[in-house]
Amino acid sequence: MDEFHYRDGALFCEEISANEIARSAGTPCYVYSAATFRQHYTRLREAFAPLNPLICYSVKCCSNIAILRLLTELGAGMDVVSGGEIFRALRAGGDPKNFVYAGVGKSEAEIRLALQSGVGLFNIESEMEFENIARIAREMKIHTTAALRVNPDVDPKTHRYTTTGKRESKFGVDLERASAFFRAYGHDPYVALCGIHLHIGSPVYTTGPYIESVQKALALMDELAREGFRIDTLDLGGGFGADYESDQSPLAIEYAAAIVPVLQSRVEGGLRIILEPGRTIAANAGILLTRVEYVKKSGDRTFVICDAGMNTLLRPSHYGAFHFVWPVHPGVALTPPRRARELVLPGLQRTEVVGPLCETGDFLAEDRMLPPVSRGDLVAIFTAGAYGMAMASRYNSHPLPTEVLVEGATLRVIRAREQYEDLVLHERDSF
Ligand code: LLP
Repeated sequence: MDEFHYRDGALFCEEISANEIARSAGTPCYVYSAATFRQHYTRLREAFAPLNPLICYSVKCCSNIAILRLLTELGAGMDVVSGGEIFRALRAGGDPKNFVYAGVGKSEAEIRLALQSGVGLFNIESEMEFENIARIAREMKIHTTAALRVNPDVDPKTHRYTTTGKRESKFGVDLERASAFFRAYGHDPYVALCGIHLHIGSPVYTTGPYIESVQKALALMDELAREGFRIDTLDLGGGFGADYESDQSPLAIEYAAAIVPVLQSRVEGGLRIILEPGRTIAANAGILLTRVEYVKKSGDRTFVICDAGMNTLLRPSHYGAFHFVWPVHPGVALTPPRRARELVLPGLQRTEVVGPLCETGDFLAEDRMLPPVSRGDLVAIFTAGAYGMAMASRYNSHPLPTEVLVEGATLRVIRAREQYEDLVLHERDSF
């Protein structure tokens, strides 16, 4: 699952105690484990080895350039969705040939940057977008390759905000329009349409929706082959789960056991497979450390008010997402035996874990049984490495938190804590 463990009643990331991390980096603070990032990437690569896929890490989920560099050094490509992500991935030393570029709203400037940088594959989301990219490529006299993102109309059984492969979503082109798409654009002199892209949603905790969508994609590819189009790439997107609770997600080998057999003969026939995992690599590789400012009662509820809130970690408030929360120093008797919604331990109290912002929706955990905590205690929010810092904001003018990367007994600050000056850096009050 990850390298965040309790030892003698206190939380550690690899070889460093969370207490020590907070003392040197302050709070709120995102703490990442390099070993966990490496393990998750490597397990995925090994599990899918029979398909020899290009694994493009989904930059959007945790985009610090130190993390991108760590994964680039392991051989990962990058899944990017904006000019900013292309910039980051290049800055981290990534090879643009191994970048895949998706997104429904690619702007002229972003397309130019992607073409200029030599991004390997455009994942195209609409007819109008193809025409725009083809026009710009012709003007710039740059040849590129593209995959059509199809919408397989499969239900991944996840939150409606992160369901992307159902017919009513804004992503991709309906399967029924795919052949017409290839007939219209499949012979472009600058943009070679040679792949199919899928991304059905996130997180997807069963393998069924993948198999269903892959089978639909393979049927489409056969139909296209009969019409004379050569499809050499199938990009399966991302969406593999993470352990918000212990053992919640299938393992990489379990996803692979279902998906590999459906694709192996195609790969032997020359098909290239791309995966775009984000959460399954990053989520368990990070926690958010926060300090308790105050504890107070309102009616019959107990509020633990922390220095991190929805500005620091938006997922609980935005998606109603569950993150396991536990004090950093609970002592041996209250060390959690596993991460779960309900733990039966002595002396737990019903608790609301909230942030400092002026909104009732500003919470990190609702209605949780937790050990009692006091002002000044540290609390850890687990499985916060994906879509944590990446979605953080400066709402209520709280500077963005710091990010640190732990490697064994070494601690590196990979993003300095913002200062008040940073809040107004680009603002002007004199004209
Ligand atoms: N590929 C494409 C085209 C995507 O849109 C996404 C995620 C991924 C790959 C990576 O998916 P992953 O492996 O991380 O599940 N903010 C939400 C998740 C949004 C996902 C957006 N797209 C959350 O916090 O749950």
